[in-house]
Amino acid sequence: MLSLGIEGTAHTVGVGIVDESCRVLANVSATVRPETGGIHPREAANHHAERVVPLVQEAAAKAGVRLADVDVVAFSQGPGLGPCLRTVATAARALALALGKPLVGVNHCVAHLEIGRGRCGCDDPVLLYASGGNTQIIAYAAGRYRVFGETLDIGIGNMLDKFGREVGMPFPAGPLIEKEAKGGRELLALPYSVKGMDVAFSGLLTAALQLHRQGARMEDLCFSIQETAFAMLTEATERAMAHIDNDQVLLGGGVVRNQRLRSMVGRMAEDRGARMFVPEGELCVDNGAMIAWTGLLQFKSGHRPAIEETLIDQRYRTDAVQVTWR
Ligand code: ATP
Ligand code: FE2
Repeated sequence: MLSLGIEGTAHTVGVGIVDESCRVLANVSATVRPETGGIHPREAANHHAERVVPLVQEAAAKAGVRLADVDVVAFSQGPGLGPCLRTVATAARALALALGKPLVGVNHCVAHLEIGRGRCGCDDPVLLYASGGNTQIIAYAAGRYRVFGETLDIGIGNMLDKFGREVGMPFPAGPLIEKEAKGGRELLALPYSVKGMDVAFSGLLTAALQLHRQGARMEDLCFSIQETAFAMLTEATERAMAHIDNDQVLLGGGVVRNQRLRSMVGRMAEDRGARMFVPEGELCVDNGAMIAWTGLLQFKSGHRPAIEETLIDQRYRTDAVQVTWR
């Protein structure tokens, strides 16, 4: 069985093709990089509209399959930016209709978790999902993926990118901040905000920008932002693991490409006698393969949505999904 998935919740439009054993046959994407300022939803949607058809063709060619051999078409139904979601939903619907194949809508956050389960061989992990727009700690309980903790304001990647933008770094700033942080010598005091299993980053961002205006060294600032923000994530994740007595932690989202974050969570896991799992880099960030794989799981478990159930949902909650495949 082959599934083709189209991702398009934010900056990235991606197409992936996977088979029943979670082999990734193709995973191609294109990302908008705004020259100045943040992402503009309509510009991103136009970008996705231009790129999606060539990406579908490229994915089929890379996978060495004909589109007619695809058994199910999956797409990112939400959460995300309305214009981007609509563009990708329209493309997926058209493709499914043209091929005469079923269409399945997938929750983007659940897909980050499922691709990690599928690829890393962890069966029941706590997922730390840290990306630009999202920061959540998710685990399975009684038929749903429950959000144990999340950001109360902005996503962690968003915080890093906003900091970078204000100090003149190009987008995305995460990798540059990681590089600068290596030269950090002094840990500057920044607000540390963990409330139960929830976190908040806007106070940290404001304080870091203030220190920047006061002339703090860039290396120290980046180092301190990372140490503080990642410690918050690690603490909240550990609390979730302790709460449900779970000994597997899975990482997902673009920010988990950061080696310092990996080493902090890895150390925490080791101290608890738990294991950390990290998918390949291109499966951590937004990608079509995770949508294809989750769509395939849903389809195999009998999910046959009516067309009105495939409407996009900008605020599609992780715990709104009925997990029928576990
Ligand atoms: P989502 O729609 O899930 O919120 P996204 O559009 O933010 O995802 P991702 O590719 O998952 O896309 O993540 C991008 C984020 O990851 C950016 O904020 C970027 O700065 C951050 N990032 C990438 N590499 C690193 C790194 N090495 N260290 C820290 N942050 C990083
Ligand atoms: Fe994502």
